[in-house]
Amino acid sequence: MKKEFIFSVSTNAFQIEGARSLGGRTDSIWDEFTKRNFYIPALGKAEREINSIEIAADFYHKYKTDCRIMDKLGLKGFVYNMDWTRIFPKDENYINPEGIKFYIDLFEELNKYGIKPIPILFHWDTPLWAEIRGGFENPEIIQWFKNYVECCFKYLGKYTDIWFVNDENSSFAQSGYITGDFPPGKKDKTAFVKVLHNLNMSAAVTMEEFKKAKDKGLLSKESILGIDHDWSPPVPYTDSKEDIEACEKYNEWWKDLYLDPNLKGEYPKVFLEFIKDNKIDVTFSKEDLQYLKNNKLDFIGWNYYRPIYVTANDFEYDETKFISPLSKTHLKNVNFVQPIEKKYTKWKWPVDNTKLVEGAKRLSKDYGKNIPIMIIENGFGDFDDKSKDLILDWDRIEYLKDHIQETLRAKEEGVNMIGYSLWTYCDIFSPSGGYRKDYGLVSVDFNSPIRERKPKASFAWYKKIIENEGKELEYSQSEIISDLTGILKDWDIFYK
Ligand code: BG6
Repeated sequence: MKKEFIFSVSTNAFQIEGARSLGGRTDSIWDEFTKRNFYIPALGKAEREINSIEIAADFYHKYKTDCRIMDKLGLKGFVYNMDWTRIFPKDENYINPEGIKFYIDLFEELNKYGIKPIPILFHWDTPLWAEIRGGFENPEIIQWFKNYVECCFKYLGKYTDIWFVNDENSSFAQSGYITGDFPPGKKDKTAFVKVLHNLNMSAAVTMEEFKKAKDKGLLSKESILGIDHDWSPPVPYTDSKEDIEACEKYNEWWKDLYLDPNLKGEYPKVFLEFIKDNKIDVTFSKEDLQYLKNNKLDFIGWNYYRPIYVTANDFEYDETKFISPLSKTHLKNVNFVQPIEKKYTKWKWPVDNTKLVEGAKRLSKDYGKNIPIMIIENGFGDFDDKSKDLILDWDRIEYLKDHIQETLRAKEEGVNMIGYSLWTYCDIFSPSGGYRKDYGLVSVDFNSPIRERKPKASFAWYKKIIENEGKELEYSQSEIISDLTGILKDWDIFYK
């Protein structure tokens, strides 16, 4: 049977759920990190904000309201990065009944409205009890993670057939263990190598459990388990041979390193060289490598926000050519630039859909012609003007339109694109912009005690896209304003 293309939205527990100390939950490394590094920039500054995630959008208490809103939107899928710590708050053995019940209730509620939950099992938020025992540097975590996923498949398996192990191992491993920008905030290359291997082994163990859960009838036979990765396709800054080669070197690290281990069961040469060059005392056993080969994942979740502009050169900062100084990577002759003539968000993220089709084709070429690919994150962070009755986020609509168009074009041109999930359902706590970097189709008033929800113009627009299955992406502003005004007429307490 031909499966329907899924129009979905994505979001993540620590960015919206709140209730950090409720329902038997304890802290994860993101709770600890945000408490310790609290920082709020001046209003209107596109800078990093590290704020409390204690309440966030209060999704924990408002999930029924949110499911009603998602039903109004006509949604087919809801990608949710679940919270391991809520389910296992003490150690690897104790299952918190209130924790797993929250997810059972949420998934049932979604199913009630015909929305498929698409869970992601790990989004950078190691439970603090696990971190104290070495976190992802400790290979024992593979067993702890196994217990967690086994529990998820047992209690949640019947609600869905699409699963992901992780969100962006690259962000977690590099920002958490090399640059120190994300928790646990380390700058330690040896730790990075160990963490990446243990993440890959955890994904493989998840696949082994996935197969067992299918055999036991806990998951349907058609269920698929994917890896979610944020590869930004490289664009050479010039047509020179050196810049083109720099792009291929970039791909070896930022694409192959994060996808090959769980899709091909092997590490690329660039990683083994990194270990050697940095005299890192870590080796991978034959058994581990065989285990990765035996437990490869089924498909790719792709977070496409932007491409990246790459050069082999080492330019001085020239304000007439670039919007920021060049950033050097740890790879020789692979540097990133931000050419002034390109378009950017206020947070200086490129706005450029031109690499989506080419990138999707490259993924299919490298990982199997028919490998399913789903866009799992694609969104536009901005300061929305929430001071008026109507929140008119036209720039967000333009961004989403341009990217959905390319996603559907990739599908037409032969990529096995199974769905598109935008980032994000409602305003969130953003790792780079806190509560001021708005992403949602639904606005959240973070100053209101009930975290009041309100649809934006992008909500009215996406509703149409879901209805017409992406066949008509164009819109007129007056039509969207009239739709939004209509939606707001019924927007009573059930939706707020
Ligand atoms: C992705 C993450 O990398 O980027 C999300 O999975 C994050 O958690 C998103 O919110 C956008 O990044 P930011 O920092 O703008 O919120």
